[in-house]
This record gives sequence, structure tokens and C-alpha cells, in this order.
Amino acid sequence: MSNAEMLKRQAAARALEHVRSGMKLGLGTGSTAKHFVELLAERVAEGLEVVGVPTSEATRLQAESLNVPLGTLDDYPALDLCVDGADEVGPDLTLIKGGGGALLREKIVASAAAQMIVIADASKHVETLGAFPLPIEVVDFGVAAIRRGIEKAARAAGCHGLLALRRGADGHVFVTDQGHLILDAAFGVIPDAAALAASLANVPGVVEHGLFINLANRVILAGADGVTVLDR
Ligand code: A5P
Repeated sequence: MSNAEMLKRQAAARALEHVRSGMKLGLGTGSTAKHFVELLAERVAEGLEVVGVPTSEATRLQAESLNVPLGTLDDYPALDLCVDGADEVGPDLTLIKGGGGALLREKIVASAAAQMIVIADASKHVETLGAFPLPIEVVDFGVAAIRRGIEKAARAAGCHGLLALRRGADGHVFVTDQGHLILDAAFGVIPDAAALAASLANVPGVVEHGLFINLANRVILAGADGVTVLDR
């Protein structure tokens, strides 16, 4: 396992310490969350009783293959804990998420959880959000007009940068689990995440964006110097 993967696994292992039998758990998406699901499955095999609600089809398939009991948010609308990764962790535990394209389900699941714990390697911790392009999920209609709307809304929040329609590795336009498209906004710097979030929420056609504000309660960062825990 590479050093980076070992750090992700360390963060995941620390998050697992928060899991108790009987919990209903939101299961995140991405390479770090994948470690958490693997470690969780080991505990389930030993007798831990939990139900997971996956944030993507990829996580659902992984958890199913590892025999982690699963349910839906309709079955369990109030979760105890959600454990997920992040693309950037900024001040006040504000996050950029959605690099894996699962931001919509991730935000719904995190919002349904009493607690959200984010796991990441320490390189994700930044002073100002925005170096990672902000994923913005949009409907598959009038994308050129939606793009103009996003650019205007972003300018009002002091953000400037190119919007790229996300494509998969095969070159085809990337379609989310919910059947939407993603525009990745290369702002470089997001001076006021709350202002940008509010502005984007008013653009017709924007389904969701990857700014997670006031959702993460704890961030577990694993780095060369050990594990750091940040609380909000
Ligand atoms: C998935 O849509 C994302 O929000 C991921 O949680 C995020 O991209 C972190 O992924 P990694 O753990 O692979 O870095």
C-alpha cells in the first residue's frame, strides 16, 4: 500500500473508533471512505451490528460485496453518524466535496446524520478553499445558460474562474448517480464560502454544489507526524 493510502487508512481506522453497535451510518464515497468501509466490514464480520446508508452506487456495491448491512434514507431518515472524505478542508471545517461526483447524495446523507466525521490525509487541509475546483451539479438542460448564471453568481461572491464540464476517463460526459452533470469551477480562491454557497443556491438549474458548510463536526487528518483531530 502506498504511503498516501496508508494515511487514508489511518484516518479511517480512527473514525471507526466512533462507531458503536446499533448505529445507523452514512457511508461516504471516494478512496478514503473506501478504506473506512473495508475496516467497517471487518468489524461487522466480528459481530458489530450496524446499518449503512451509502452515498453512491460505488459505495453501495463495495459495501454489499463486503456484507455490510445496508438500508436507504427512506428506511432510516435520521442517521447517527456519517463518515466521508473531502477534497479540501478549510477554516471552520468548511469542505469542498464532490471530486468523486457524489456530492448530492453525500450532502443529503450528511445532513441526515447527527454527526459528520471527515477522514482525509493531511494534504487536504488548506487555509483557504478553492485550489480544488468546486464541483457544481446541474441539470441536463440549458447547460450554457446555467453556466452563465453560475459565473454571474460566483462573481457576486468574489469568485472568478473557468467552468469545465466534467468528463469521465472514457471521454464521455460524466453523469452523476442522480442523472445530472457536473461543472467543475476552477476559482483558485474562494474568499467567502458562505456567500458563494448562498449565491449558487439561487441559480436555476444548479442542483447542488460541493461546499459543505456547518456539516462536519470533526475532521480526522492523518499525516507524516501522526493523526490530528479538528473539531467544530
Ligand atoms: C466524492 O464525491 C467526494 O466528495 C469524495 O469524498 C472526495 O472527493 C474525497 O475523495 P478521496 O477520499 O478519494 O480523496
